[in-house]
Amino acid sequence: MSLLPTYARFDVEFVRGEGMRLWDADGNEYLDCLTGISVSSVGHCHPAVVEAIRDQAGRLMHVSNLFYTEPMTRLAERLSRSSLGGGVFFANSGAEANEAALKLVRKRRQGGDVVVLHGGFHGRTYGALSATPQESKQAPFAPLVPGFRAVEPTAGAVAAAVDERTAAVVLEVVQGESGVHVVGDDVLRAAREACDAHGAALVFDEIQTGMGRTGSLWAYQQTGVVPDALTTAKALGGGLPIGALVTGPALAEVFAPGDHGSTFAGGPVVARAALAVFDLLDDEALLARVRAQGERLRAALEELPGATAVRGRGLMVAFDVVDRSAPELAGRALREPRLVVNATGPQTLRLLPPLTAEQAQLDEAVARLGALLSAS
Ligand SMILES: Cc1ncc(COP(=O)(O)O)c(C=O)c1O
Repeated sequence: MSLLPTYARFDVEFVRGEGMRLWDADGNEYLDCLTGISVSSVGHCHPAVVEAIRDQAGRLMHVSNLFYTEPMTRLAERLSRSSLGGGVFFANSGAEANEAALKLVRKRRQGGDVVVLHGGFHGRTYGALSATPQESKQAPFAPLVPGFRAVEPTAGAVAAAVDERTAAVVLEVVQGESGVHVVGDDVLRAAREACDAHGAALVFDEIQTGMGRTGSLWAYQQTGVVPDALTTAKALGGGLPIGALVTGPALAEVFAPGDHGSTFAGGPVVARAALAVFDLLDDEALLARVRAQGERLRAALEELPGATAVRGRGLMVAFDVVDRSAPELAGRALREPRLVVNATGPQTLRLLPPLTAEQAQLDEAVARLGALLSAS
């Protein structure tokens, strides 16, 4: 095997996907409650996304960011209009979107600190990693980018950390990789007030929570707190790689030509895919269903033997297992009930099903989890 061993991969080779279902090379069928880590939110190979990609691939695939393309400008418009109303910088991944955000807030307040929250995850590139206060991920790669301060996710800690040297507070509204922990609205309000008082920028990393995952197009829309910028990626491309930094009007003029760039970012094929995803997910009826399905899913999980601390928002859900190894259970789920879930920690299983899942499929996923947890 020629791959560098950066992942503890499961021994499964997937060859086909449709909606919530995946098939492996031996023809086994699986129910997907992970969606490539919150990427395939419209399900695998959604016909509208496939058709947009096919059509655009036959017209124009790449010209670089030295020029305009219609899909890119239309997508930027749509992202801005659906959220903060400022400007958009396209990237190719979540970490890259965060790099853009970090450069923007540092350019605005040069030499300024970036306050981040314990339990947060922002990616693996150097800036994003420096914003991810986890010893095991950071320590082997020191020295990191300087100027990051991690605080506990409490209103008091955030308020105390922000002053006139703070460039930004960067946080996830629901912390995904550390196990789906909803950050309290009081913490978000404290961050907003502290940033306003000291002229710092408030940036929400909506890479996992965005594009409808929590039951509103953007997670911040359920909190009463509006950030100055947000980052998105994952589900935006419907399975193709894309990331974006979206600013509010106040930050739209910070970057000037030459400040940042990317050869591929926002290319016409991925932009067409993202526009198709937008058409599917920016839909109040679908979002209301995600909220209702999320509640029903959490209620059903509460009933499972050995499942505890059920939590989440919309269809971003996790629970802890008592006296069991979550990574071991995730491996067994693949082999026996043929369910794709992932462990975010030694005792935590996370569910990120498609936002287009049928209720019967979600019920079936819960039944398979029940079988898994009941088996000794
Ligand atoms: C909240 C959050 N930010 C950033 C990232 C990094 O995104 P990517 O893996 O596309 O670089 C992730 C990925 O899981 C994430 O969940």
